[in-house]
Amino acid sequence: MDKITAIRGFKDVLPEDARLFWEVESIARKVFNAFGFREIRVPIMEKTELFKRSIGETTDIVEKEMYTFADRDNEHLTLRPEATASVIRAYIEHNMSSAEPITKLFTIGPMFRRERPQKGRFRQFNQIDVELFGEDKPQFDAEIIFMLMHFLTGSGLKDLELEINSLGCSGCRPVFSRAVIDFLKGSEKSLCPDCQRRINTNPLRVFDCKVETCASTIANAPGILDFLCSDCEDHFSKVKSFLSDLNISFIINPRMVRGLDYYTRTAFEVKTNALGAQNAVAGGGRYNGLVSELGGPEVPGIGFAVGFERLIACLPEDANNKFRTDLFVAALGAPAQKIAFGLINRLRIAGMAAEMDHTDKSLKAQLKRADKLNSSFALIFGDKEIDEKQVVLRNMQTKDQQTIPLDGLQESIIKIIKER
Ligand code: HAM
Repeated sequence: MDKITAIRGFKDVLPEDARLFWEVESIARKVFNAFGFREIRVPIMEKTELFKRSIGETTDIVEKEMYTFADRDNEHLTLRPEATASVIRAYIEHNMSSAEPITKLFTIGPMFRRERPQKGRFRQFNQIDVELFGEDKPQFDAEIIFMLMHFLTGSGLKDLELEINSLGCSGCRPVFSRAVIDFLKGSEKSLCPDCQRRINTNPLRVFDCKVETCASTIANAPGILDFLCSDCEDHFSKVKSFLSDLNISFIINPRMVRGLDYYTRTAFEVKTNALGAQNAVAGGGRYNGLVSELGGPEVPGIGFAVGFERLIACLPEDANNKFRTDLFVAALGAPAQKIAFGLINRLRIAGMAAEMDHTDKSLKAQLKRADKLNSSFALIFGDKEIDEKQVVLRNMQTKDQQTIPLDGLQESIIKIIKER
């Protein structure tokens, strides 16, 4: 029979990596909690309209990459391509702004984008997403970027590059868009069909296009920083100054527009050269008009998302990232196996990772399995040891052996494992 494989771009997270996910998640929770962020869990599916209205109808994500389908009652639903829209939907739906002026939330989970799979790019991937609602002050931009960098370095990432830009506001950005349209006039033919189409609807998308001719055409276009209004300019210069106060180094990239349309003012990306072409580990920015556009109050917001798989791929090999067992019981013969069966299960309840072999394999074979399971200790006994009321405990690393009385065996073992 043909075997059924996973869907293209959908990846299994195998136990070794799952353990890293778990460890990184616990670092995230610790760091984010210290900065006052609380976890929220939102559904992985939303009404399609939510993403169209927030991410933007003419972005690649909405035009080409969403997993959208009509439900049985013909409602259009989409597997979330990102979390910001869902978190805002929940923030509005649960009227969180009335409970607290500043709301700090984070969520962790899978996102879905039908992109062309390659190294570091999947169709189902996981994000650690952070959102802060209720403040436009530049201190908050600097603080959220500081928290992101602290979290990434705390997870073990090295050689990170932070790029920042300001995308202006609804006052100054249209002036810049106009200038880009004027610049591109006459060069339409060198643009890809998507960019040609978007030239009048969403000219900033050309900055984000990966097609070579589009990139070289836009390379000499005016930069957004020359078009910022005085408020946006002031905001951006304060963000830079607060970042410097926090000892965060950054590069200004005036061409960074990000792949989603909702950003205003500060936008940022964290890059690493450990990943090849898909070099962004994290990205985010401010979205001051988005909450009200989605039917909520006039509340500014800022956030970021870290690509979990990319973060994990950048981590140095960790020799300790091995599944460990505390105790392997090599029980020889039925009476010993009976004692061992009760013992390992009681030890597990006490929080020790304990294993045994239920077959009648030789001692040598059982010790080999103890090694395979990275067991710290092996407990060895058979009929003779039961008669003599003492068993042998072997330290699997040093190979030292000691005898332990059968009476009070469980307590003695717990003590030895804990003291290790
Ligand atoms: P984004 O830049 O689209 O932003 O995604 C954030 C991160 O998710 C990327 O930097 C990358 O590490 C990871 N990522 C994106 N697509 C893929 C993929 N196909 N495979 C693997 N990893 C991927 C957002 O999603 C915004 N919602 C971030 C945000 C939060 N802005 C404000 N608040």
